[in-house]
Amino acid sequence: MTVTIVGSQLGDEGKGALVDLWGGDADVVVRYQGGDNAGHTVVEDGEEYKLSLVPSGAVRDKVGVLGNGCVINPRTLFSEIDALRERGLEPDVRLAKRAHVIMPYHRRLDNIEEEAKADSDEDLVVGTTGRGIGPTYEDKAGRRGIRVGDLLDPEILRKRLEYVVPQKKALIEDVYGLEAGEECDIDALVEEFTEFGRRLREDDMAINCGDFLAERREAGENVMFEGAQGTLIDIDHGSYPYVTSSNPTAGGAATGSGVGPTVVGQGEVVGIVKAYLSRVGEGPMPTELKNDERDEELADFIREKGGEFGTVTGRPRRIGWLDMPMLRHAARVSGFTGIAVNHLDVLAGLDEIKVGHAYELEGDERLTMPATTERWDECEPILKEFDTWPEVDWTEVAEEGYDAIPDAAQDYLEYLSDELDVPVYAVGVGPDRAQTVHLANPFDQ
Ligand code: IMP
Repeated sequence: MTVTIVGSQLGDEGKGALVDLWGGDADVVVRYQGGDNAGHTVVEDGEEYKLSLVPSGAVRDKVGVLGNGCVINPRTLFSEIDALRERGLEPDVRLAKRAHVIMPYHRRLDNIEEEAKADSDEDLVVGTTGRGIGPTYEDKAGRRGIRVGDLLDPEILRKRLEYVVPQKKALIEDVYGLEAGEECDIDALVEEFTEFGRRLREDDMAINCGDFLAERREAGENVMFEGAQGTLIDIDHGSYPYVTSSNPTAGGAATGSGVGPTVVGQGEVVGIVKAYLSRVGEGPMPTELKNDERDEELADFIREKGGEFGTVTGRPRRIGWLDMPMLRHAARVSGFTGIAVNHLDVLAGLDEIKVGHAYELEGDERLTMPATTERWDECEPILKEFDTWPEVDWTEVAEEGYDAIPDAAQDYLEYLSDELDVPVYAVGVGPDRAQTVHLANPFDQ
């Protein structure tokens, strides 16, 4: 059995809580894309762990796998593992040998390119996390990347670096007119990254991901695929160019781990939905609350109450009403079999609640998103107003179950479920992991 967890909006939907909740029934938790641009907080026995790369399952005695679709910064990985060990944990983390490695020059180039875009035209700025994600995937597609398997052999590592580093140096110096630093020192890179390779070998961490997962599945184990980021920042299905450089959508679970799409498709694919919208970084957002002072007040209230500040970068997130065309697109692209709706409590106590039911574009009503970002930016939301619901004791609601959710909030959930034609499996009603209303466990479906 597999369960794939996908962010259905712009990232930060609170996937971690559901990965935690249902991951208890998984034996292996696999990340299939992205790198240390994702951030999640795991609370275990009252202890809080902030992680950006180590899969949360690895903190809970599961095997945590970083699949071939990931890009891995070994500096981040090992510092997270070391920090967990210092706190008495022994995380079992495996890395696909086919996954690509984020090198120091990738991080440098990520920042240089964002600055170059800002100098050329502010509209070009993506607002990346500056972790070197894009430049690493560029090198993967350009067939000049360094893979985890290369770290295990210093000669191969040196050979690859001797080809690629002079190109990066020339880019930094001749194209951008800056000075290259130690990120382009081949000897230092070989030394540092060979040491990472030694640790990988010593701790038996490097795997052939597809083989590994096939063996675990043959042994009857449950696998959870954990998507990072969200559908609208998917490089193919998102708001290009304001996207990350990988596929958070469910297709990525197959290509990014080495199982067949049929394996993913035979399991459950659960879309995680935040009850409103938040966005970190640039790009259109038709339902953004920014038109007048009243909107700004609402946005500030939701931002503060929902803790809407970037986990990795600390940036305040932009806030908007739920966007149904976006969710219809997400449900179709990933083939959701169910959804979990988070942060329902954040909307409690507001004196108005709206949802972007459709868009208006050149006089036409549209139920899904246009394919180009410029057209999407021209869409005006057609808003549907909902009855508001009061602040209640959400811990009690979580204990009592779905019927204890205020009626107006149930109507909101039922509207979502009907529009997307999928059941609601869980509802997040507070920041604490226990504040979740369970309706169904996808591993039991
Ligand atoms: P990158 O992934 O660092 O290249 O950033 C590309 C875009 O994706 C930027 O708009 C980032 O803010 C956004 N992004 C990357 N990771 C996350 C995430 O985990 N949550 C939300 N947005 C993200």
